[in-house]
Amino acid sequence: MTNHIFINNKIKSFKEEINVSSDKSISIRSILLASQAVGKSKIFNLLESEDVLNTLKTIKKLGINYEKLGKAYCIDGFGLNGFNIKKNTTINAGNSGTLARLILGLLVKTRHKVKLIGDNSLSKRDFSRVIKPLELFGVKIKSKKNRLPIEISGTDFLRPIKYEENIGSAQVKSCIILAALNTPGITILNSIKSRNHTELMLKFLNYPIKIQSKKNKDKIFVSGLNQFKAFKYNVPGDISSASFFIVLTLLSNNSQILIKNININPSRNGIIKILNQMGANIKLKNKINYKGEEIANIYVKSNKNLNSVNCPPKLNSAAIDEFLIIFLVAAKAKGISKFKNLGEMNKKESKRLDLAIKFFNLIGVKVERFKDNINIHGNPNLTLSDSFEIKNFLKDHRIFFLSCITALTLGGKWKINDKDAINTSFPNFLKILNKIGAKIN
Ligand code: S3P
Repeated sequence: MTNHIFINNKIKSFKEEINVSSDKSISIRSILLASQAVGKSKIFNLLESEDVLNTLKTIKKLGINYEKLGKAYCIDGFGLNGFNIKKNTTINAGNSGTLARLILGLLVKTRHKVKLIGDNSLSKRDFSRVIKPLELFGVKIKSKKNRLPIEISGTDFLRPIKYEENIGSAQVKSCIILAALNTPGITILNSIKSRNHTELMLKFLNYPIKIQSKKNKDKIFVSGLNQFKAFKYNVPGDISSASFFIVLTLLSNNSQILIKNININPSRNGIIKILNQMGANIKLKNKINYKGEEIANIYVKSNKNLNSVNCPPKLNSAAIDEFLIIFLVAAKAKGISKFKNLGEMNKKESKRLDLAIKFFNLIGVKVERFKDNINIHGNPNLTLSDSFEIKNFLKDHRIFFLSCITALTLGGKWKINDKDAINTSFPNFLKILNKIGAKIN
């Protein structure tokens, strides 16, 4: 089977209404929390991508049964620490940093040690950020240089911790919150603000979690060992997947799109704020609140008059997965856009900041880098006619999506390899592109 695509034409003007894939962060969290609830939870609209399917496989390996009944995934939990773990269990998180870091939080009290492995990309990522707090809880962890494979041995002698989370990582924060569920006493976490789906879900489950919100930090108090009941959850659309269609529309000629039912939680909607600062005029329609999460339809119109942005670093966390595609808008905007403190991008599925610079250099965009700050020299007249091949990007799904949107908006003759990468987060990406008129071979 070929694993590449060719794009040789820009997309023609379109006016469409679409749904994109369901939210990956919320899908993974809903499965993990259902695995700790008492009874059968029902999750609707679960994202059926590799990261999420690996989450289902993982809880199954840990003794939690699930089945798909009609449109719902039914997950049969036995309460906190209700895993039934056999000796010599190995779980495989595949490409997913979120699954790998969050599941470690749920393994703090297990009877047998568990080995965690992952794919080539995940095995290059640093786990010290979760190993450190987990060891403070009293858990024993073995690894070589804080990389996978990791062996975790749970204990009955857990103690609550006080922790300063200074990275602004939702994976670290959520790992600690999940570990706190199984730990007696109150764990206190002072955390730089990041996506807060875990906290919102626990609140909706009436779990005793308290949050004192300050300017850049949340102080989170988790009281351990409280059981919660099985629940129903309907997963909304993913703003990270929507972002590629937002930019496709913005940079195409005379086009409009309505992207329905997207999670626009303020800890995730940085892309909308940044693009609107550049003059995009993206509108949020039919806003509702669903179990603490804000959801809306996103309306976008093409716009030729985009200006550069001096991106406020306080928006970094809420746009952390979207910078690649935001850089493309900066490349087409008038003036020099400035982005600061983006070192965390190099801790993702690939070294995304390094690859972004390589990518934009390849298509002739001037990018300056000073440590983790970058300046992008925009040109509203930028179009491409050369041939490009995109390969060796550690199968980072977001680099694949960026390449497709660049080809469809700027032109050129493109061969884009590692098509499989789309299965990580957005398996129907190419189908939706086809539906709105993209010619992809
Ligand atoms: C995620 C948190 C972010 C994000 C990742 C998903 C999550 O990672 O980049 O794609 O679901 O918690 P960090 O926690 O490393 O910032």
